[in-house]
Amino acid sequence: MVGMGMIFDETYRPFFERSVSRPLYDPTFGVCSVPLTAVATRTGQRAAAYRAKAPADIRDFESFSSADAVEQLVEGPVDAVCIATPDDRHFAAAKLAIEAGKHVLIEKPSVLRLAELDELQQLAIDHGVLAKVVYHKLLDPDHKKLRTFVADGVLQHVNNGYCSLLEPKSIAGSQFAEWITGRNPGTYVAVHYIKLIDFTFGLKLKRVTCTGQRGIVGPADGPTWDSTQLRLVYAYPDDREAAFDIHTSWVTPDNFPGYVEQEVQFRFDNGVWNGHSRKRGVECTVEGATPFTIKNTINNHYNAALLEPWGERSQRGYGVEVIERFMREAAMVEFGGPLQERAARLAAARSLTYNDLAADRQVVAAVEAMEAILARHAAGTPDCVVEVNGPAGGLALQPPGSAEIEILYQPVV
Ligand SMILES: NC(=O)c1ccc[n+]([C@@H]2O[C@H](COP(=O)([O-])OP(=O)(O)OC[C@H]3O[C@@H](n4cnc5c(N)ncnc54)[C@H](O)[C@@H]3O)[C@@H](O)[C@H]2O)c1
Repeated sequence: MVGMGMIFDETYRPFFERSVSRPLYDPTFGVCSVPLTAVATRTGQRAAAYRAKAPADIRDFESFSSADAVEQLVEGPVDAVCIATPDDRHFAAAKLAIEAGKHVLIEKPSVLRLAELDELQQLAIDHGVLAKVVYHKLLDPDHKKLRTFVADGVLQHVNNGYCSLLEPKSIAGSQFAEWITGRNPGTYVAVHYIKLIDFTFGLKLKRVTCTGQRGIVGPADGPTWDSTQLRLVYAYPDDREAAFDIHTSWVTPDNFPGYVEQEVQFRFDNGVWNGHSRKRGVECTVEGATPFTIKNTINNHYNAALLEPWGERSQRGYGVEVIERFMREAAMVEFGGPLQERAARLAAARSLTYNDLAADRQVVAAVEAMEAILARHAAGTPDCVVEVNGPAGGLALQPPGSAEIEILYQPVV
């Protein structure tokens, strides 16, 4: 495990704690335990804090925290490495792990540049390992139902839509203070919806625009963004277009009702889908507790800590399920049949487009384009447009009212 922050606590920790007593089982690969063998963090403090409160049967992990913590971790006897560092540090850690022959699972967004994606993909092929990314919202039952309706032709031909995801101010102010300078909430959370749109509708990305606001997390003329409004235009094979607006913020007041506010609307030729991933029917008030330590509108589908009807305490949901899926895929590659058929099993696992890096190209392209547009904006030129796979190249940025074209990525996206 590389990084032990918020997402470790919400999803990886419950996965590892459960798998100690309930190892994975599949008739094809048998029983497969997934112990937390080693962790690498920046200072070692969070690893020590977790060790102090972790169940006895999980406390024996090694903890590395020097400047070459990841190098040390990947030299050890680990089979798979999960990377949950801030997103601009995913690439370096993933590269080290893949080069050491480990299967790799990276938190969203996988990487920030297509050139990095190309490099990781090639390394994964050269070293015969899986390189995958976590987009847990694809496993949200509501999003599965949306995709099922699209796949079955119940909802036909999406034309446009909006998505919004609002994080509280505490995220930008304290949780991420160490790495937030120069960053934006779009890269952090719009990617969930970029992936949802990309994976669900299967269209070709054509154009990216973006604007945003500054002045709360950092200075009004600086490179750090409070909120962003991203627009993605996709094309169908017959040249009809579909457009999606994705609004994100990490400066919403801390007492707004809910922790993460997530809403989508998609309009089709024959229908409309409205989703609110937080308000699924529960509204709860506890004097002195809501909305700070307990949320008013709780998303019990993501990673809820529960007392099961049979008396057991558990923490379960799609955030945990997505990690287990990856571990099952890696177990299938290694233990799902004879060694001489490993290559075929590896190819089968790589063909899963919901998490393989090979299928993350349009998402990384959208992130790279958005970041380039915001960087130009911060440097004094707002409202640039990035054209995807046009005559000039894979990602071509054009400032408004100018003949200049900056090629961000030359090959086809
Ligand atoms: N899937 C989701 O919904 C979701 C939610 C939150 C975060 N995330 C993703 O998870 C990642 C981490 O987010 P977080 O909220 O846990 O962040 P965080 O700031 O709470 O924790 C980051 C962790 O990374 C460690 N770290 C930083 N630099 C490192 C380095 N160079 N080597 C080793 N460890 C290093 C820190 O010590 C810390 O343990 C991000 O990519 C984020 O986008 C995903």
